[in-house]
Amino acid sequence: MKNKTNIVLIGFMGSGKTSIGKMLAEKLGKRFLDTDELIRQECGMEISEIFHKFGEEYFRNKEKETVERAAAREGTVIATGGGVVLNPENMEKLRRSGIIVWLRASEEEILQRISGDASRPLASNKSESEILEIYSKRLNLYATYADIIIETSGKDKEAIAIEIIKHL
Ligand code: S3P
Repeated sequence: MKNKTNIVLIGFMGSGKTSIGKMLAEKLGKRFLDTDELIRQECGMEISEIFHKFGEEYFRNKEKETVERAAAREGTVIATGGGVVLNPENMEKLRRSGIIVWLRASEEEILQRISGDASRPLASNKSESEILEIYSKRLNLYATYADIIIETSGKDKEAIAIEIIKHL
């Protein structure tokens, strides 16, 4: 088995996985991969379009393949989609490949960032209480898989990246 050389960012939509991941990778001199971005490139369309045209199950299959490829890399910061924790196989692969960091954002922060965001199919047509219901259902999963938990509320990206590095 390979060493755990990857850093995997998990957390709900709007918790900053992509932007913090990029900054973290830069500071550590590691490669950066974003599973949603890989899916976008492979399918040649936006995530919202994939959901709309082919449905969530199709997206989750693509996500599974993409996670498998990303987890096979070494020395990589991997930003995942908020629903990656729904599939235990994804998490088994990611855990074998690296340290799992949960970016825990407050409900207020999440709503502020994602309410009505058309690029996020699971949030765009939902009320605030429906979004929070999905969040509360997933909290347990994020907590179960996290090696490190970082509170993101009220902190800027750089402070969060530095905090992650201190915990490694
Ligand atoms: C999803 C989160 C999205 C994206 C897809 C599904 C989810 O990623 O993977 O829309 O189920 O929470 P972000 O967490 O980057 O928004």
